[in-house]
Amino acid sequence: MGFKIEEVSPKFERVSLHSHIRGLGIRDGKVQFASDGFVGQVEAREAAYYVTKLIKDGRFGGKGVLLVGPPGTGKTALAIGIARELGFDTPFVHLSAAEIFSLEVKKTEFLTRALRRGVGVRIRELRKVYEGVVRKIDYKFGRHPYNPYAQIPVAATVTLRTKQEEKTLRVPQEIAQQLADSNVETGDVIWIDEETGRVFVQGKTEEEGAEVYDVNVRKKIEVPSGPVYKDKEITRYFTCHDLDVLNARQQGLLSMLMFGTAGEEKEIPLEVRKSVDEFIMKTVNEGKGELIPGVIFIDDAHMLDIETWAFLTRAMESELSPIMILATNRGFTKIRGTDIESPHGIPLDMLDRLIIIRTRFYNEQEIKEIIKIRAREEKVDLSEDALEELTKVGLEHSLRYATQLLSPSLIRAKEMGRNKVEKEDVEYIKKLFVSTKESVEYVKELEKYFLR
Ligand SMILES: Nc1ncnc2c1ncn2[C@@H]1O[C@H](COP(=O)(O)OP(=O)(O)OP(=O)(O)O)[C@@H](O)[C@H]1O
Ligand SMILES: [Mg+2]
Repeated sequence: MGFKIEEVSPKFERVSLHSHIRGLGIRDGKVQFASDGFVGQVEAREAAYYVTKLIKDGRFGGKGVLLVGPPGTGKTALAIGIARELGFDTPFVHLSAAEIFSLEVKKTEFLTRALRRGVGVRIRELRKVYEGVVRKIDYKFGRHPYNPYAQIPVAATVTLRTKQEEKTLRVPQEIAQQLADSNVETGDVIWIDEETGRVFVQGKTEEEGAEVYDVNVRKKIEVPSGPVYKDKEITRYFTCHDLDVLNARQQGLLSMLMFGTAGEEKEIPLEVRKSVDEFIMKTVNEGKGELIPGVIFIDDAHMLDIETWAFLTRAMESELSPIMILATNRGFTKIRGTDIESPHGIPLDMLDRLIIIRTRFYNEQEIKEIIKIRAREEKVDLSEDALEELTKVGLEHSLRYATQLLSPSLIRAKEMGRNKVEKEDVEYIKKLFVSTKESVEYVKELEKYFLR
């Protein structure tokens, strides 16, 4: 099967609530009390670290992870830490169970898509390319076909050099235009694909004659060696879902009608996915590529219903399936869509396949440190008293409530003509926005006045 492959970069979702989490805080294989934005929760972080190792070593097939713990104890943060620890070329799909019920596409299609975004393929190809450092570049300009006042490059002459040789190439408009569009200049290391004419800028060398800037956008690299014209091994990265979409788009008018222009809303036909799977298996078996099993993280998993559980349990058996990480803060509860009670609202046959990591409540020192980090992240300058007050709030109510008070407190401080948040700002804001505990007590108190 011939794929016309475009490069698609792996998606990475940012959650600003957890923007301070940069990893699991491991140094030399040891969990640090506070590192990478993570504080405390040491056991869970160590367990999560083992999970990332197992995933990286490809030893985690057919299993999943369940993160269990009270609200606000860092389950979602742990999942984000795992994602960061795995790095950018391991796919990580982040879903909230609630999303599954708020969609136009069918549940199974949505889930299949998410599962396929969670598996990557690295494909290696040998391409004939011209590669080297740009020594000289000259454009020949001509008139724009539709705009007589504009000039566009209609051809170019580029001199490329490697450590061994130098070659001057004359290139047609299609390539000249790309060179101009990507601002290629002397000192840049580029390669041009002979067959497709695509230009790739790899970086910049610091050799003489190169333009030198104080701030460099391009990566610094070495002058390539070998001949200018050569076979180059190129590695490209896709998720299974990327390949599904590309393949579906190529299935002509029929699929265009089905996909519309956006190509995302409608279902992807089964045959399309089948042929993608065959292509992947063939590529892997021929040694031209490898599978990168990634992660699908489903937050608030107790909200999944029985149909979804059945679907996911079956999906775990498949070879092309990502590793599942689930999180919940529920104890013994009904499986959604049934009257059956089960631990964490998860069916037992699924539960059997999960290894469980537990998060626990934070102590005062941990709460204080986390509030400090969040304050820094949200650019809130706290006085020592204000920090003490927020720590107290975190202990008495919840960590999440305490961090929610940060930004409003800053606004109040500014209104009082200060840049630093003081204890009185926190107390003031705390009266305006109550915690869940307080709001429940409030309603309970009122219940005696309600009509029955
Ligand atoms: N150990 C930690 N170190 C640093 N930040 C943390 C830590 N634990 C939690 N946080 C931060 O505190 C907030 C609440 O944590 P998080 O959302 O991860 O809790 P959760 O266990 O997923 O709660 P829920 O059950 O309600 O979903 C987030 O902003 C999170 O990034
Ligand atoms: Mg959470």
